[in-house]
Amino acid sequence: MKLKSRVPQSGFLLALRFLALVLWSVPGARTLDNGLAMTPTMGWLHWERFMCNTDCQEEPDSCISEKLFMQMAELMESDGWKDVGYEYLCIDDCWMAPKRDSKGRLQADPKRFPSGIRGLADYVHSKGLKLGIYADVGNKTCAGFPGSFGHYDIDAKTFADWGVDLLKFDGCYCDSVEHLEKGYKHMSLALNRTGRSIVYSCEWPLYMWPFRKPNYTEIRQYCNHWRNFEDVYDSWQSVKSILAWTSSNQKRIVDVAGPGGWNDPDMLVIGNFGLSWDQQVTQMALWAIMAAPLLMSNDLRHISPQAKALLQNKDVIAINQDPLGKQGYRLRKEDNIEVWERPLSDLAWAVAMVNLQEIGGPRFHTISIASLGQGLACIPDCVITQLLPEKRELGFYQWTSDLKTKINPTGTVLLQLAAT
Ligand code: GLA
Repeated sequence: MKLKSRVPQSGFLLALRFLALVLWSVPGARTLDNGLAMTPTMGWLHWERFMCNTDCQEEPDSCISEKLFMQMAELMESDGWKDVGYEYLCIDDCWMAPKRDSKGRLQADPKRFPSGIRGLADYVHSKGLKLGIYADVGNKTCAGFPGSFGHYDIDAKTFADWGVDLLKFDGCYCDSVEHLEKGYKHMSLALNRTGRSIVYSCEWPLYMWPFRKPNYTEIRQYCNHWRNFEDVYDSWQSVKSILAWTSSNQKRIVDVAGPGGWNDPDMLVIGNFGLSWDQQVTQMALWAIMAAPLLMSNDLRHISPQAKALLQNKDVIAINQDPLGKQGYRLRKEDNIEVWERPLSDLAWAVAMVNLQEIGGPRFHTISIASLGQGLACIPDCVITQLLPEKRELGFYQWTSDLKTKINPTGTVLLQLAAT
């Protein structure tokens, strides 16, 4: 039901609003003290789309080489990506030469990275972007290149000397949980000691889960973001499984996220092959609700205008980057429709409704506004804007109103509720 006129605010309602403000402003757990990732990291990461292709003879345009990163850097600058916030251009596995140099330092494959990482970093910086790199806490990277075990200090120093701005630190080939934990902590401190600002992206909890429950309060003190669950694939099955894992573990992981430290549900695969339009909308909307790092893995040289517009949607990015820094959560699931919500600054809320039914057509779903935001989302009224699948001003709603939406199968309707 749409509201035509506004209701005057009573003292009681104002008090409730004040209470909400206080509750949502309570600071989260202690964070890694490097001043970075105050909002979720945004950028591009090669893995999902380009994987470990080292064959530059046969596939010069898609092998892991400085050329690929230089092309992406150019496009990030020229095609509006940087302007909307995608800043970190990140190398994943398979950049290294098979052996360390004579001084024990990691080195890039000389054929594929003839300018070295230093040269690539200079180029990326000249475009106003930042460079991310990848290494592994164990004896080898997941793809079998040299690991950092026993070399944490020298590797941190090498990355800093090269001008690297982010490290993704993987957890393959580690021989014990103790080494895993010690290694992640050691690298965090080593990066800090370099004096260079380097975002530290961990996979520590993902590799801990098979052995014991991760201590997220501790992980937050060492990492700027951390992967919890399996690698994302270019498929709906994969995106769906990440959402299911996140909602079933939300009691454990949501409260720990905040400025400086974020849960990382892995890359955005929007603009590739496996997701339908509605599924791409769902990934973008839910990554915003989850306050997830927005690291695209796609080919910016070949991307549809529709996928580009979705990834560059400023309203949705603003939700992801909201300065309050509270991660959203699944509020309920009824009859294959999930309702997620996220508190935002200025007493606003984001609400996403996902239709998980994979048979039939679009479904209507009615929510009572009073059920949102623990009853505080729209007191006494609010202005609702639908942001996805397309932008529509829905107007004023009252706390007592209902809102009827239509959601495509595997699609999402993303709303923003703004206090009046
Ligand atoms: C692991 C990580 C992925 C990617 C690959 C690289 O599987 O989880 O994100 O970095 O290793 O080998």
